[in-house]
Amino acid sequence: MDLLRFTTAGSVDDGKSTLIGRLLYDSKSIFEDRLEAIERTSKASGETEVNLALLTDGLRAEREQKITIDVAYHYFATPQRKFIIADTPGHTQYTRNMVTGASTADLAIVLIDAQKGVLVQSRRHAFIASLLQIPHLVVAINKMDSVDYDEKVFDLIMEEFTQFSAKLDMPDIVFIPISALKGDNIVQRSTLMPWYDGPTLLYLLEHVHVEPYKNLIDFRFPVQYVVRPHQQFRGFAGRVSSGAIRVGEPVKVLPSGKHSAVKSIVTYDGELEEARAGDSVVLTLEDEIDISRGDMLVRVHNTPVIGRQVDAYLCWMDETPMEPGRLYELWQTTHTGRASIGEVRYKMDMETMHRLPSGSLQLNDIALVSLQTTMPFFWDTYRQNQHTGSFILIDPDTHNTVAAGMVRQVNKESIADLPQAPAGKKSVDVVWEGCNINRARRESRNGHQAAVIWFTGLSGSGKSTIGRLLEQQLFDRGIQTMLLDGDHLRHGLCNDLGFSEADRSENIRRAAEVARLFYEQGNIVICTFISPFAKDRQQVRELIPEGRFLEVWANCDLDTAIARDPKGLYARALRGEIAHFTGINSPYEPPENPEITLHTATQDSEAAAQRIIEKLTALGII
Ligand code: ADX
Repeated sequence: MDLLRFTTAGSVDDGKSTLIGRLLYDSKSIFEDRLEAIERTSKASGETEVNLALLTDGLRAEREQKITIDVAYHYFATPQRKFIIADTPGHTQYTRNMVTGASTADLAIVLIDAQKGVLVQSRRHAFIASLLQIPHLVVAINKMDSVDYDEKVFDLIMEEFTQFSAKLDMPDIVFIPISALKGDNIVQRSTLMPWYDGPTLLYLLEHVHVEPYKNLIDFRFPVQYVVRPHQQFRGFAGRVSSGAIRVGEPVKVLPSGKHSAVKSIVTYDGELEEARAGDSVVLTLEDEIDISRGDMLVRVHNTPVIGRQVDAYLCWMDETPMEPGRLYELWQTTHTGRASIGEVRYKMDMETMHRLPSGSLQLNDIALVSLQTTMPFFWDTYRQNQHTGSFILIDPDTHNTVAAGMVRQVNKESIADLPQAPAGKKSVDVVWEGCNINRARRESRNGHQAAVIWFTGLSGSGKSTIGRLLEQQLFDRGIQTMLLDGDHLRHGLCNDLGFSEADRSENIRRAAEVARLFYEQGNIVICTFISPFAKDRQQVRELIPEGRFLEVWANCDLDTAIARDPKGLYARALRGEIAHFTGINSPYEPPENPEITLHTATQDSEAAAQRIIEKLTALGII
């Protein structure tokens, strides 16, 4: 017998519990003894109708002890079908419950109180249903008894809802006028609304087409754990989240990218030839490959996108608002990691369905955000794959599930080839990726090693002149070079910096980081900066391996530099027009142990460049 999973969402007091109770009661799906108890309680409290809300509330209380999320599942069956109802309570946490309860539903019932009409919450429920791509939506307009079963009331609500839902991606919407309390159009057709000729709710639930909307194309197998009962057996347990795989077919392991083939598919009931979406199995592979929880087996030519940046719809579910930039735990399939929200692209206004700009998100907000994870995840879009395209965010302090996300777009990235990271101040939790083409390989192809040659000295001491000459000569020998000059960087990357001690320090830090990137790409990097402070230069030195960093002091006395004054800056500084000018009203700390000292007041630039080339040769760099 087939199964329909559906969810009910409503606002407080719109009669959801009564509706579920009525479905269970009228379809004779509940145990006799429980029913009796309810009849007694209802009578004792002086009510004339059997209080069906008591029934579901009782069930919920029982279940709540076992489950942490506030969704109660009810099971019932008619001769046509089995049903699972995910009942999501209508209090403040309704977004969370709706999302968790509805994520696997075939159909969603949104309840509307005929007296109150379409509320913001009703719209939100319908919107979530469309985000989750629940294929069928039933708008049950309840409490028709309280509006004298008036067709006009029903029509008005239907019209308003239709106008709003036109903006949703919702293929199938059915409106049914009901009274859960009196039982109209739930199981029995109402005699009081002869103007309605559609199905009763139960009839619809029994006959609606259940799409087998499992994705059977894109094979994704997130590894839950490694099974190793003895040395001869090594299997990977998990649930096929989409697609299918057969014994003998090739697979690829993410993130390692290693290839193998499926050797066997093992289950408790014996071996299978094929595993399909939804099957929990243990896969063994032909080759010994290091695989652990959170890895994913996929087909060789059909892989998810590996990335750290996605655009996703986020339903914020926590009382504490979202903090941009904060690190949350992210859970996706069997993979966990950390993520921060970069930008809220827009937030949905549930009244108007307009997109609003927003910096943060509050309880029940739904927004499109950009999300950045610290480690790469294997993503599909939610549209393509509901498992690999969805995730939850958890507050690391409170352990609350604060948001559910549906991936709309994955941004591919080019992962830079970088060595160990120093701990920056604000960008914590960034991860260096393994090298694409590492320095050693580049060096071997280039035929020389990488190095950083750091010139320091007064303005006008000849750093740039010698640096340029040196670069030209290296280039002529077929060497990969990069020239970083203070005046150049200060035109762009560092144009927000002046010449205070702190600004110079930051200027040198940036220059050094850029130098290191080029160094890692196999270049001989020539840097020409005044860099007057010893501590800043020391920090540069620490970034580059010993033997590959050459500090070159362009040692020139101040008088010679003033006499040269290539840019006319000394003259202006001496007239008091430039503050913090090195040598005039800002200090220069000479290096104590430079690799090379050039006497640039007397030595000519050609000879200076030649000395450096000799040094590079002696060190075996070129
Ligand atoms: S550093 O202080 O951070 O080492 P950097 O090498 O980037 O300086 O830039 C120095 C260049 O900036 C000089 O060549 C000069 O043309 C220009 N400049 C402008 N104002 C100053 C100043 N107050 N002190 C030194 N250089 C200055």
